[in-house]
Amino acid sequence: MRPAIDQLIRPGAVHRSVYTDQDIFDLEMQHIFDTTWVFLAHEAEIPQPGDYKTTLLGRHPVIVSRQPDGQVAVLINRCRHRGPTVCENETGNSKYFRCPYHFWTYRSSGDLIGVPSPEAYGSTFKKEEMGLQRIARVDQYQGFIFGSMSAGGPSLREHLGGVARFLDAYVGAAPGGKLALFEGSQKCAYNGNWKFQLENGVDPYHVGALHISAVTPKAMEIYQQGGGCVIAMDGHGVTDHTDYGPMPLDASLSGGFNLVIFPNLIVLRSQIRTIRPVAANRTEIHTRVVKLEGAPEDINLRRMRDQEFEFGAAGTFFTDDLEIFERTQYGLQSSAVEWLTFSRGLETDKVKDGYVTGGITDETQHRGMYRNWLRMMTAGSALQEPHA
Ligand code: FES
Ligand SMILES: [Fe+2]
Repeated sequence: MRPAIDQLIRPGAVHRSVYTDQDIFDLEMQHIFDTTWVFLAHEAEIPQPGDYKTTLLGRHPVIVSRQPDGQVAVLINRCRHRGPTVCENETGNSKYFRCPYHFWTYRSSGDLIGVPSPEAYGSTFKKEEMGLQRIARVDQYQGFIFGSMSAGGPSLREHLGGVARFLDAYVGAAPGGKLALFEGSQKCAYNGNWKFQLENGVDPYHVGALHISAVTPKAMEIYQQGGGCVIAMDGHGVTDHTDYGPMPLDASLSGGFNLVIFPNLIVLRSQIRTIRPVAANRTEIHTRVVKLEGAPEDINLRRMRDQEFEFGAAGTFFTDDLEIFERTQYGLQSSAVEWLTFSRGLETDKVKDGYVTGGITDETQHRGMYRNWLRMMTAGSALQEPHA
């Protein structure tokens, strides 16, 4: 028996079942991923009409498709006949999606245009009612494309709140005013909960410990003197060394900021990292490396080298993080200790520019994310019930 949902988050602590309980994971898919704005793609992934990308919106396989008129359509990747995905490629360009099972064929807009031997379905069958389902809302900000399964609720701009200005600064570092992407994506998975990656994306406290073998003394010195703060910002998390100034063009270790845009996007140095929750104890991460449009090629190449060195498959930082995520899930199997501790800085948090901020190694930003988690998870009375 675990506590009721509204008992799982305390001001400086999170209950272990938030990471281990598959029922909670199922409720997260329903009450978070099916209601809020979820990051799906960057515009540079689908620049041309017909370009598409397949991904997951919570548990929904989706196709993010650039339409002939330049708009972005997000279609549920599930054949209206008997349910298989109609597109298996991760990316591509096509005017059509054809289901391999019985060859029902859909336009990239989702319209059903081909059914072999349609007569046998009788007179009530209407192709125009059997297109690929579209998700309720699609919007974008600074080239970041988000989707929502919910027709109501805050706009994307309202959802982003204060972090929008950080995205402005991130994109604003590009002399050409927008981001481009290096080819290919880096994919990995770990046996641990998706929220470990969220916490870790804005967690300077661990850098001088877990990554001690990777952080040079010089960088450590800069890091320790560097000031900065962590911010709980409209449900998202920010670590900020910039005092809201623009990100340095070369994303040097001493500058910039990390953003965790709840629930599944991390903007960290040269990368856009997307979190794909699979189960309570399984998570996938897809990463694209960012180029600054119009920047000198050597600057962009440095961004890629920085990414490879620190966050590539054998990167000095990322391997440490993945290891600790799995160790955390393993440790949390034990119910002998019920709570994880997030109280660092709780007594010294301050309000700056309308947001709660803490010292650079505080857990202020995590507390903000879990307040947001709790608010979404308890929206609706059915969730208040404890369960056996
Ligand atoms: S299941 Fe897709 S065409 Fe039959
Ligand atoms: Fe790390």
